[in-house]
Amino acid sequence: MRLAFISDIHGNLPALDAVLTDIATRHIDATYHLGDLVGYGPWPNEVIERIRAEGIAGIAGNYDTTVALGHDTCGCQHDDPRHKVLSAASYRWTSAQVTPSNRRFLASLPFRLDLRPLGGHAAGPAVILVHGAATLNTVYWREDRNDRFCRKMIARLGARDGDAILFGHTHKPWTRTVDGRVLINTGSVGRPKDGDPRGSYALLEVGPEGLDIGFPRVTYDVARAAEAIVAAGLPTELGVFLKTGGSL
Ligand SMILES: [Fe+2]
Repeated sequence: MRLAFISDIHGNLPALDAVLTDIATRHIDATYHLGDLVGYGPWPNEVIERIRAEGIAGIAGNYDTTVALGHDTCGCQHDDPRHKVLSAASYRWTSAQVTPSNRRFLASLPFRLDLRPLGGHAAGPAVILVHGAATLNTVYWREDRNDRFCRKMIARLGARDGDAILFGHTHKPWTRTVDGRVLINTGSVGRPKDGDPRGSYALLEVGPEGLDIGFPRVTYDVARAAEAIVAAGLPTELGVFLKTGGSL
């Protein structure tokens, strides 16, 4: 079973289109999203509508939840005060743009999705999807988290030896195995923060002999996205962020 996982699209339609085109060439059995469909990018409704049209199932990111429920902020963490200002501008703009129907769709997304790729009650790994954590989608599961943190997350999710846990939210792809549980951060389709502006997603092949993991990177028209950010009245710096893969 070959699965694709896309996360943190953040209103970036050309990045989503490019990643879905790439996925279409890879003989994938199913594609899932891990949330943060909206925010920062100028196409929040278009991204939601493409995901709905493709029938891609998935979970709620913090941005999806906060926009859907009318919170004051997106729940994003920023150490740099410049990012805080940009984030607030993006949140105001996105909240005003998302249609009532799409807001209801975002509110309907679950916080966790469990897959059984080898089928129903058959033996084999479970694949657990969360944005940050199963009860709180603002938790950052970064690569530098220690084993103690990972064990706590594993226990809360009830993951067993051989299972895979996939998540996003940090916008940096990585994988590591802790106590036999395979941890996979998909990276971000539409707003990478690892210095590489190309869209990132995760591939997972699940078979009786184990898991095979890949992190394809996909080139898309970043300049078009940056121009659309300015045309929409969003801060120019959000386009610079896309061009640099996470810097201002
Ligand atoms: Fe995100």
